[in-house]
Amino acid sequence: MKKLGILISGRGSNFEAIARAVQDGRLKAEVAVVISNRPEAKGLETARALGLQAVSLPSKGVERSAYDRQLVQVLRQNNVDLVCLAGFMRLLTPVMIQEFAGRIINIHPSLLPAFPGLEAQKQAFDYGVKITGCTVHYVIEEMDAGPILRQTAVPVLPNDTVDDLSKRILAAEHQLYVETLQDVLTKI
Ligand code: GRF
Repeated sequence: MKKLGILISGRGSNFEAIARAVQDGRLKAEVAVVISNRPEAKGLETARALGLQAVSLPSKGVERSAYDRQLVQVLRQNNVDLVCLAGFMRLLTPVMIQEFAGRIINIHPSLLPAFPGLEAQKQAFDYGVKITGCTVHYVIEEMDAGPILRQTAVPVLPNDTVDDLSKRILAAEHQLYVETLQDVLTKI
């Protein structure tokens, strides 16, 4: 069974979608560890409630490479095969990228390469696109720029608020992340 290490910073709904897919057998993997760089992340509570190992590894004030060395240590201690970023709000350095070369994936709430960075849903909404979506991609040093694994298109409907749109994208994210993992796990 391949071991997943999931990195979060907040709500953790993508992490939860993955954990539930593991629980009910849709995803043949084990969630070995959930790590948050923010101690107050709601996702850490969810992880504990699900009986998973939840590690708070605060990043505030820690230099980026030094932080990544701590991440590598926790992930290696747990024999992690694949690192899944799920709302992890911190850029990774070569320390992590080289240690887990080709084994770090991320989900982003737009159809990359459109609208990288923060508040991608709002960026798409403000631009006025009629179709946006979500992307699962490999992580490279450059933000939101690694090779694309899968995407789902999500329509922007006439009376949408940013919130309506964000909710529709999030539902698509949960499905897309699980499907992509099913695929990636057969290849590593
Ligand atoms: C998601 O929209 C994800 O695409 C982005 O950050 C958000 C995290 O949400 N990278 P959650 O913590 O998984 O609920």
